[in-house]
Amino acid sequence: MSGRRMSSGLPSGQPSAPPAARQAGLQIQKHALPARLTHWLMALAILLLIGSGWRIYNASPIFGFRFPEWATLGGDVGDALALHNDPGVASAIAWHFAAMWLLLFGYLGFVLWGVASGHFRRDFLPVGPRSFLRDFMAAATFRLAHRLGEYNAVQRVFYWGVLAAVAMMLLSGIAIWKPVQTYPLETLFGGFQDARMVHFLFMSAIVLFLVVHIALVILVPKTFVAMTLGKATSRPHTTRPHTTGARR
Ligand code: HEM
Repeated sequence: MSGRRMSSGLPSGQPSAPPAARQAGLQIQKHALPARLTHWLMALAILLLIGSGWRIYNASPIFGFRFPEWATLGGDVGDALALHNDPGVASAIAWHFAAMWLLLFGYLGFVLWGVASGHFRRDFLPVGPRSFLRDFMAAATFRLAHRLGEYNAVQRVFYWGVLAAVAMMLLSGIAIWKPVQTYPLETLFGGFQDARMVHFLFMSAIVLFLVVHIALVILVPKTFVAMTLGKATSRPHTTRPHTTGARR
């Protein structure tokens, strides 16, 4: 499998930028079809999992709060109670298990393609504590430029982090789903209740990631165009803030 480079949004003169774009100093972002398909599959699956998971949680909360019914998935609670004496948990579980397979296929597809095509190596690496701290400080003081087609160190760390969080969600979910069959896995998590807690904590981490992720997409809508249609271009800013990019 040969992966198209995600980006050639590098300073003009970089070999991967097409000549015309290079001359115009354009920033270009490209996403190959497998990355787009699996990314949107994961996004859909995660939204379904969060909505249905919150309805399931509400039936037996771990903490002293419940999620608002409008934010949960599983049909109208009143109707479900009248029909089956169940607050929509059965349909939430059906949504949850269906979406679990979507996430599993999307995730495996994204990760396998990312490794095999070299996309992870080219676009998610290198990254280290120094570049993360540098870009994080720049972002916190609003001095981090966004260059279309190039992930900064904060984005790279967030993408690795969310991929790890999804893996933990899948593993802890399997441990809760089949506690007897996956007993060793459940033991690794410290038992059923702890596996449930791990599942909840990584769900919270993914929700936090999504809040930041979607806010950034709203700030730079061209990234949405590229992630949906496969390509977007942007003219470089005339003033260049302090620091950009994750290069070492
Ligand atoms: C439904 C809400 C979501 C929207 C609107 C969204 C949108 C986007 C967009 C526009 C990009 C391109 C960012 C850029 O080029 O700077 C992107 C990249 C990415 N998103 Fe999302 N996303 C969503 C959900 C998710 C979820 C749930 C995950 C975690 C599984 C995720 C993980 C990623 C990763 C890893 C990338 C980097 C993709 C790559 O270059 O291969 N996103 N997302």
